[in-house]
Amino acid sequence: MKHDTTSKHYNVGTIGYGWAATAHIAAINATNQGRVTAVCSSRPLDAAELSAKHGSPIKTYERVEDLLADPAIDVVDITGLPSLHRDQAVAAAKAKKHIILEKPMANSPEEVADIVQAAAANGVKGCVCFECRFSNQFQVTKALLDEGLLGTLHYGEVDYYHGIGPWYGQFRWNTAKKDGGSALLTAGCHALDALLMLMGHDVESVTSLSTKSASTIFKPYEYDTSSVTLLHFKNGAIGKSAAIVDCLQPYYFHTHLVGSEGSLLDDKFHSMKLKADKGHWSKLSMKMLDSGDVSDHPYQAQFQAFFDALDKGADMPLTSFKEAKKTFDVIFAADKSAAQGGVPTKVS
Ligand SMILES: NC(=O)c1ccc[n+]([C@@H]2O[C@H](COP(=O)([O-])OP(=O)(O)OC[C@H]3O[C@@H](n4cnc5c(N)ncnc54)[C@H](O)[C@@H]3O)[C@@H](O)[C@H]2O)c1
Repeated sequence: MKHDTTSKHYNVGTIGYGWAATAHIAAINATNQGRVTAVCSSRPLDAAELSAKHGSPIKTYERVEDLLADPAIDVVDITGLPSLHRDQAVAAAKAKKHIILEKPMANSPEEVADIVQAAAANGVKGCVCFECRFSNQFQVTKALLDEGLLGTLHYGEVDYYHGIGPWYGQFRWNTAKKDGGSALLTAGCHALDALLMLMGHDVESVTSLSTKSASTIFKPYEYDTSSVTLLHFKNGAIGKSAAIVDCLQPYYFHTHLVGSEGSLLDDKFHSMKLKADKGHWSKLSMKMLDSGDVSDHPYQAQFQAFFDALDKGADMPLTSFKEAKKTFDVIFAADKSAAQGGVPTKVS
């Protein structure tokens, strides 16, 4: 662990000890201020084994109440099943712990509202794991937009293609509607969230359709595992986001942005401002989001930004509870639209 001795330390208690948790622990311990000092799991875990594995002392708890009662814990990191997120996040807020919360924040608008309200009422800060916002790919893409190289965007699409089948550990719970929710809630939210960051305007209304693959591999899913959402932004721009979790292909985050000065397609772009040949793409060198593996995800940069914001007593940039709620408001409107066969639905 490399801790900067000049800044504050944050002791983090992780709830849930599955795949995401192991990536979180490594990423938190690699920040300047954070260290995971406790893990809570309903499975009995061996504290000595965990401490040896993660290279620092870790206490273990089997009950969330006991972890929350530990006065040494400053931040709670929620990585368990989505259907438990609301109760765990609200309890953490009431215990005055700051919160790192895996996506989905929760699977209903009421639960998300409860989390945001509890955090505000108890003066704690939140970080939602929309870590793709901190990826090199979207940071470079955003910088290109901020430089004005594409002018004003009037169209954008960011799509998520990632087959989540039995080869993934989370398949065992993700197939149930209670925890998986929808194609957008379970995973496509990353692409929709990236689209909202890049377009930079709030959404007025959405129209969404959904279906599912005929493959027997995805048969256990209780909900539609492919959806496509059209977005109407408040500034008049339009967009599209597909959430496809029943595909059989490599992981692919597809990005196409179209503006008054040029276009961007994944890692290629053209800008009239650079006077290059419009008949050919120019190439950007950046690390692409091309893997569903959590050890490849930019959690460290995101958690560093969260702890830096806590040092200042401020909301974190890009993925605070307030910012992430905007994405979930769009998702809940999209899922409502899809449930009604594509009826245009206002975002509340
Ligand atoms: N932001 C991202 O890119 C990303 C990636 C993966 C998962 N997630 C999210 O993280 C959360 C957890 O997902 P995950 O992939 O870690 O799921 P997981 O199946 O590995 O773990 C989920 C829960 O099951 C428990 N668990 C794991 N193995 C168990 C076992 N053998 N017996 C009993 N319980 C066990 C874990 O403690 C955890 O509470 C979800 O909200 C998911 O959406 C986010």
